[in-house]
Amino acid sequence: MPLVLAAVFGLAWYVLSRLMPELPAGANEQQRMARAANEWAATLVLIGFWMTLALVAVRALNELAFFIFHKRKGYEAPSLMRDLFSLVLYVTAGAVILKYTLDLSFAALLPGSALLGIVLGLALQDTLGNLFSGISLHADKPFQVGDVITVGKHTGAVMSITWRAVKIKTFSNHIVLVSNTSISKESIEVCPQNGQNARIVFFSAAYTDSPVRVIHAVREAVREAENVLRYITPVVRMRGYGESGVDYEVKYWLSDYSRYNDTDALVRQRIWYAFRRHGFTFPFPTRTLHMAEPEECEGGGRDTGTLAGLLSAVDIFSPLTPVELNALAASSANHVYAPGETIIRAGDDGDSMFVVSRGGVDVRVDSNGTQRTISRLGEGAFFGEMALFTGEPRTAHVVAAEETEVLEIGHGAMRSLFQTNPDLVEALSRAINERRAGLLANASAPSGGEETHHGLLSKIKRFFRLD
Ligand code: CMP
Repeated sequence: MPLVLAAVFGLAWYVLSRLMPELPAGANEQQRMARAANEWAATLVLIGFWMTLALVAVRALNELAFFIFHKRKGYEAPSLMRDLFSLVLYVTAGAVILKYTLDLSFAALLPGSALLGIVLGLALQDTLGNLFSGISLHADKPFQVGDVITVGKHTGAVMSITWRAVKIKTFSNHIVLVSNTSISKESIEVCPQNGQNARIVFFSAAYTDSPVRVIHAVREAVREAENVLRYITPVVRMRGYGESGVDYEVKYWLSDYSRYNDTDALVRQRIWYAFRRHGFTFPFPTRTLHMAEPEECEGGGRDTGTLAGLLSAVDIFSPLTPVELNALAASSANHVYAPGETIIRAGDDGDSMFVVSRGGVDVRVDSNGTQRTISRLGEGAFFGEMALFTGEPRTAHVVAAEETEVLEIGHGAMRSLFQTNPDLVEALSRAINERRAGLLANASAPSGGEETHHGLLSKIKRFFRLD
């Protein structure tokens, strides 16, 4: 359209200059007036021609400049910047056109423009305030189009930044225009579009659900959810002990922060399904009366029969009769340990041994200031027998490798078993000798040195006063 206009102006100027009447010598007033009017018309048409051409040129330059900007910076230039760029070009083009058509310079316009400036300044106080706030926003660049910002009570994705206002789209799909002046006065929370923005979702689980299992299940369920950043693993933490359950929070990072409402909802949904799959319980305000039964407490909720079954699977206890196994189970206590918790510390005194009833433990020795694992013991294995049967300090550290339950058997319970099962002493002293050999192979460990089978046997018998 401007090009068509320029062509029309060009044509009109051509016609006018062709039809320009010659001024004969001694021309009368009327002829001079006609000539002057024609000249003015030609000049105005010429100004129109150059103005429309300048319009086309400024638009083309604007497109080119901001195409290069986009290529270099990787994002769209804000419209305020584009507008200012065009304004400067228009003013320059206008000044050049006026200079060459009317021979008018800016200096000649200044006195008038100073007065106009005062009038306009007063009338456009707010608008100019917005413009300058907009310019300082651009200099500062606190956010860009696409970022999610919170200004006052509005939160939404930035759609555009103009010379007057910042346009944001809220999560209810409403468009809010926040004037640049209010933005420069208020504090703004910015969540950059490509930044690693995190969200926290809260949930609770019943007191009976193991924290290790809850944390693992929720972490795995959330990391798979859509719009959750793949390369940062969600963090699940215990926040506290609530009235009806354990309170947790899951912190996750989003690919596209502007969709956090949907993603929070999806995360809650995933947590629900994970709970369902793993048999966890969502606590709700309830009051449960627990009738404490000492035997159940000792065995961590398992009855003596189950514990006896567990003990019968342990090699060294295979010669025991069902009655003896039941007696042993009744006098043992079940404990649960979190991964990484120490069950036994090397060098401590010990008067009990343990059987792994669930999970696994690492046997570790000190080596150059750190701990080195020399053996992994799984379900049904026993440990802690060396200090119990010899009265010597613990020879190694034993640490839970995962969430682990152990049955603790005390000195008294073993003593009564030894009296009826002399073979048991034999089996245990063989196990102790084997483990000592393992400790010896790890030179830096305090092994207690080599000892003959007989030496060890008589030591155990002495310690338990069996002869
Ligand atoms: P205790 O010395 O009472 O405490 C540490 C326990 O680690 C020890 O008893 C054994 O039960 C266990 N232990 C020590 N050395 C080894 C080994 N080489 N292999 C397996 N278990 C071991």
